[in-house]
Amino acid sequence: MPELARPPSVGDLEFSWVKKFGTALHIKGPFGRDVLYLVDPKASQYVLNTSGYKFPKSPDMRFMIRLLVGRGIIWCEGEQHASQRKVIKDGLSTNSLRTYFPKFQESVRLFISKWQDAFAQDASPKKTNIHSFLAHLTLDSLGRTLDYDFGVLSEGSESELAKAYKNLFAEMAFEQSDSVIALRDLMGYLPHWMVSVLRHSPDRLSRRLKAAFETSSKVGKGLIDRQLTLLQAGEEGRRDIMGRLVASNLQNGSEIKIEELQEQLITLLLAGHETTASTMNWLLYELSRHPDIQNKLRKEIIESQKYRRSEDFTVQDFESMPLLQAILKETLRYHPIQARTIRVAGQDDIIPLSEPQKTTGGKTITEVAVEKGQRIIVSFAAFNRLLTSIWGEDAHVWNPERFLNDNGTKTKTGLGVISNLLTFSSGERSCIGWRFAILEMQSIICVLIPNFKISPPPGNVEIFRAASGLMLPMYVFL
Ligand code: HEM
Repeated sequence: MPELARPPSVGDLEFSWVKKFGTALHIKGPFGRDVLYLVDPKASQYVLNTSGYKFPKSPDMRFMIRLLVGRGIIWCEGEQHASQRKVIKDGLSTNSLRTYFPKFQESVRLFISKWQDAFAQDASPKKTNIHSFLAHLTLDSLGRTLDYDFGVLSEGSESELAKAYKNLFAEMAFEQSDSVIALRDLMGYLPHWMVSVLRHSPDRLSRRLKAAFETSSKVGKGLIDRQLTLLQAGEEGRRDIMGRLVASNLQNGSEIKIEELQEQLITLLLAGHETTASTMNWLLYELSRHPDIQNKLRKEIIESQKYRRSEDFTVQDFESMPLLQAILKETLRYHPIQARTIRVAGQDDIIPLSEPQKTTGGKTITEVAVEKGQRIIVSFAAFNRLLTSIWGEDAHVWNPERFLNDNGTKTKTGLGVISNLLTFSSGERSCIGWRFAILEMQSIICVLIPNFKISPPPGNVEIFRAASGLMLPMYVFL
């Protein structure tokens, strides 16, 4: 586990395991516990898709989630999860996305114009922290979909919320000592009331988490009150995600659970902004390393302007840009910012394998028996790089062309929500905001790339995939 938690660059170790041992293996977890590590397509499908809630998130992972964001949709299991998912899904439906879409573009344009003002004095190259720019932008976009100004764009100092979230995930990258890994494992055995005790620990990360939690709770309370006031005045109420959550809570006849609704908002804020910002970050990094592809993309976007009626892009405009689609998919494949998920077998079970595996005793097996309580890791990062069977021999190369030629994959697996990729996970716990994220990223790229040329940082710098809450690009000076 420590090797997995502190790799030199996320994925490298796992890719070598798969090459050496195959796509289903046993690794040692804390306290000598056995962990089943899966990349095998059929096995991953069994755990994520076909068996639904029979493989819940592991207790330690749930405890961490509760500590981080509370009892929102990411934390819930079973029926409670299914009913929350239904309401949030309505708020992220294709119809709702249509109304959010112009707001993304409005947000991107405002950010770009700020940049243009800052860089306008001369055309010489300027160095800027693109991650911070993207994290602010995605937070602002998310705020606009809730019709709430997080104050990210305000003049002068950063908003309280932006400050609370700034580099939160990056800081976690430095919190992976052996004892922290063991402690996190033990958290699975703690009663959940311990969450509030731990939230008050004096260490720096806990203080940061607490500040982020409290600031977003305050925002959540404002949004809930706004909806309640509308509903109590006999008006229809807002149809955005928060509005729907409050309305559905009232319809259920129970007393309104303000705290749980606040935690739902915290979940959406955290799940919905750093994820997209980090993926965009990787995409811009790849474009900076491939200036020829960046130029072709710029040309494709500028060409598309000839056929557009207004400054705003439509979904059809995006879909008519094949290189844009290919670059997005290839970045999602190559840089899945959540590298894996951890589940636990809810009962004794037999997991089928698509590729026969050799045991250490030399036996060939086509299925793996698991006992109730068995920890299971499904690796998104390693699945997205499976060689001949899925992605071909160049799986370890960032090459958008694969999605221009033959839909990217050699074999369809029925996994993932888009193009056979596990980046957004799969099944009923898959990412509920994937369409939102893709539309947002397309909006950012189509406004940013025609206006700016992106280059790698100057100097002798190496960028690596740091393991933190999310897989972040970090750099070291050589
Ligand atoms: C590129 C951006 C994104 C990536 C790569 C991503 C990835 C993921 C992954 C891998 C999961 C599954 C987690 C697990 O089971 O371990 C997930 C779940 C989730 N994501 Fe995303 N996500 C992205 C953007 C978003 C956005 C924009 C939103 C909201 C607007 C969002 C909301 C959620 C929620 C609520 C869940 C929990 C779903 C459930 O448990 O039913 N995500 N995401």
